Amino acid sequence: MLTERELNEIRARFRVFQQRIYLNSCSQGALADVVEAGVMAYLTSWRERGSPWDMWTEQYERARKQFAAFIGAQPDEVAIVSSVSAGINAVASALDFHPRFKIVMGEFEFPTMGHIWLAQQRRGARVEFIAARDGRIPVDAYARAIDETTRLVPVTHVSFLNGVRADVKAIARLAHERGAWVMMDDYQDCGTRPIDVKALDVDFYLTGTLKYLLGPPGLAFLYVRAELIPSLQPTISGWFAQRDPFAFDVRRFDPSPTARRFQAGTPPIPNLYAAMPALDLLSEIGLDRIAAHIEWLSRALIDRARALGIRLKTPTDSVGPLIVLQSKDLRAILARLAERRIVASGRHDGLRLSLHVYNTLDDVEAAVAVLEENLDLMVREGDD
Ligand SMILES: Cc1ncc(COP(=O)(O)O)c(C=O)c1O
Repeated sequence: MLTERELNEIRARFRVFQQRIYLNSCSQGALADVVEAGVMAYLTSWRERGSPWDMWTEQYERARKQFAAFIGAQPDEVAIVSSVSAGINAVASALDFHPRFKIVMGEFEFPTMGHIWLAQQRRGARVEFIAARDGRIPVDAYARAIDETTRLVPVTHVSFLNGVRADVKAIARLAHERGAWVMMDDYQDCGTRPIDVKALDVDFYLTGTLKYLLGPPGLAFLYVRAELIPSLQPTISGWFAQRDPFAFDVRRFDPSPTARRFQAGTPPIPNLYAAMPALDLLSEIGLDRIAAHIEWLSRALIDRARALGIRLKTPTDSVGPLIVLQSKDLRAILARLAERRIVASGRHDGLRLSLHVYNTLDDVEAAVAVLEENLDLMVREGDD
């Protein structure tokens, strides 16, 4: 666990806490001093050196290495893209849907996952959604849906809607037994605990920097298992997908033999400068300790919400980072929280409170106090 002193030191790096109680890392991570410094370093390099592309492409390759190490992959298995959607689209463009045409996904996926694969129906894909039961999508529901016609199974590690955590490893095992691939979307968890794509045995892994990785929008990473890369040739492409982007030969299409083939155009250099120091910061604190801290806060929030009789959309054994409470009037409860300078968010009827290494028990208690004063805005157990 983090000591109080360590926690205070971490928190001091995030100036938003001087103004607000920040419980919205599921939307956007808070701004760290090292991230501000990263932005400044980019601006300084641009101002003072004009067009230091050698230096910028060096940073770009350094970021690939750094992220690969963060998830237990090799740098050549990582593509740097500008959004998770861009990464999924690059993979989708490389697939054919004969004889395997089915894309099987749970209804807790982030909408972009549905949209992209539904768009592939014109190319022969067929999307099959698995409905939730009692707020969960059990592994046996995947077992029933995945068959010998299934091409791919996208799985969100933690759902943006309700904080439900999927058993990715079990789903991957099942999918592989039936010859399907697994695409893990870790946007709602990456940065909160150690991650090892090899141990999970996923085929594709995606995340972006703006949430628990504490970076800006406009930067995401796609991991593709090395063995799959040679057989997948994206038709969404560009010069930064080539073996040598600086060959400048318009007549020659020579895709990189590595995951770089899933990239497209000029990399988002400013975003790399901003994001990578945050990755260092998280690694320095220690991902195991971050996970333990988030779990402790999540327990406190769940226990307090239950004591008030508030209905949770997140399972009560959750380790976080996203705890979602059912509300009768989301706009009103968000406004009451905002009056106390508490930043949270909501989706449908769920009030989303998300916890990260910089949050304290006082943050949790401040939010719970507002809930207690506004119980009429929350759904309570036994309400129906
Ligand atoms: C789980 C998850 N996946 C994907 C996305 C969208 O990613 P992008 O906008 O980078 O395509 C989000 C954004 O909130 C998300 O929460």
